[in-house]
Amino acid sequence: MVKRKTKNIPDADIHRVTTSGDIEVSTYLEIAKEIGGGQPVAVSEVTPVTKRESIIVMDFGSQYSLLIARRIRECQVYCELVPYDTPWEKIESLNPKGFVLSGGPASVYQKNAPLAPAYVYESHLPVLGICYGMQVITKQLGGQVTAGEKKEYGHAILHLNSSESPLFTGLEDSAPVWMSHGDRIEEMPPGFTALAYTENSPIAVIGNRDGIYGLQFHPEVAHTPQGKAILKNFAIEICGCKGNWTMGNFINESISRIKKQIGKGKVINALSGGVDSAVVATLIHRAVGNQLTCIFVDNGLLRREEVERTFKVFNENLGMKIIHVDAADRFIDRLKGVVDPEVKRKVIGEEFIEVFEEEANKIGKVDFLAQGTLYPDVIESAASGSTASAKIKSHHNVGGLPSKMRLQLIEPLRYLFKDEVRQVGMELGMPEEMVWRQPFPGPGLAIRIIGDITREKLEILRSADYVVMNEIKKANLYRQLWQTFAVLTGIKSTGVMGDYRTYGYLVALRAVTSDDVMTADWARLPYDLLARISNRIVNEVPGVNRVVYDITSKPPSTIEWE
Ligand code: XMP
Repeated sequence: MVKRKTKNIPDADIHRVTTSGDIEVSTYLEIAKEIGGGQPVAVSEVTPVTKRESIIVMDFGSQYSLLIARRIRECQVYCELVPYDTPWEKIESLNPKGFVLSGGPASVYQKNAPLAPAYVYESHLPVLGICYGMQVITKQLGGQVTAGEKKEYGHAILHLNSSESPLFTGLEDSAPVWMSHGDRIEEMPPGFTALAYTENSPIAVIGNRDGIYGLQFHPEVAHTPQGKAILKNFAIEICGCKGNWTMGNFINESISRIKKQIGKGKVINALSGGVDSAVVATLIHRAVGNQLTCIFVDNGLLRREEVERTFKVFNENLGMKIIHVDAADRFIDRLKGVVDPEVKRKVIGEEFIEVFEEEANKIGKVDFLAQGTLYPDVIESAASGSTASAKIKSHHNVGGLPSKMRLQLIEPLRYLFKDEVRQVGMELGMPEEMVWRQPFPGPGLAIRIIGDITREKLEILRSADYVVMNEIKKANLYRQLWQTFAVLTGIKSTGVMGDYRTYGYLVALRAVTSDDVMTADWARLPYDLLARISNRIVNEVPGVNRVVYDITSKPPSTIEWE
């Protein structure tokens, strides 16, 4: 199998996300992704409902493959990404309506170049080849592909030869597209015509009367503004999909599936306050009510009012059974004197597992463990060589999960992208504040206090953080910003208050924008807002006499300071 260029980040490196130097990566970054790792637990696979129609994206190794699936889902058509050599039996169960052959790093004329299985053509379903996928079609159906004299990379203008093809419904006659290829179509297979061209690619789009098409450019990336319309035309006009993949339908299907899977069993869920575990809990609660128990571990490293807020939403508003464990002392005691950020993470992760296990044991016999694994995690695990189900995401905010508990996993979100999870949350009537919550690291405030952690420092940081959040929300910027927070630096500096000199802490303010975690830019916050935040922190937080604003992007910095 061709390995996708995604990275498998080992548990120990969870924090630092390496940023590829690959120039193509900018588009891939649109895939919102959380990095995680964890121990394998017995898995109970939740198979999608077979009646649902789907488009199958066959992965030939392009870094954009997952993005194709996401774009098609945005057109309300269910779509799955599978390795190019997946057996027909698996595909058949997905009720396929058409195939997309992704791009990939190989050249079709190389020895052992990956090709599409015969069933792709024998099924008589429509096929759309993208970049390498187009070359695969060309080769397999009798055309010719050669190495281009020069590689074509970047923007190009696509001109349609005729706008009659259903692939082009509603499109302009010419439009920008994103190219990234070295090989080119020298001779089309019999029965195909050239439907569009660019300056350097006389054959940029091909098609035949059987609904088989090829695109030399990438419709899935943001640099091809009409690309989504092309994918939609393929899925709806050509494959005849109804476009009824909505989150409302997902919720209904999901609830009946969960009911069937759980039966009379008992489920536990580690609630973190983050959106994934919150949506999982709500969905399962809808399905099996009080057979679900949530465990919410207060590690003493959370934000002000976080515990109360989470408890209120889940217990009071949604009526869930929640065990709230106040383990702050245990965590803080174990962190005493620890300054190395990775050791902090390890200590917190281990302690979490102990606490979680102790609490779970008190409940008696439990059968299932619910987890907020998302589709990108599943794909990432599959691509890294293990089976998708063997490598389970440990939810960021709760650390790894106890492998000896031998619970069956239940992962209702394993076929969803992050933005779909948020939509599910909204459809389930969860509070907006929870659905759109900014990411908060599992080790919490521990990695925002540089150096050792004390209760006093935690209190200072909590107060400063509260001011930041309060002002950012008042300014209506919370949702636009990826993350906003205060850092208690280890530095103390001199100040003056009234007639006195002070020697107090330096707080750094961090506010970043990002499409996902891998790159970020510092937010150009209005000066007045910065002034208000700074004034309030030095006035309201005892022990702090200076505030600075972090104006570095990621890379080279990271979002968190530790
Ligand atoms: P960095 O600092 O690497 O962070 O740019 C990227 C994203 O990951 C979050 N983060 C963590 N989340 N456990 C987590 O659950 C961690 O140890 C951890 N470290 C960083 C960070 O808040 C940002 O969203």
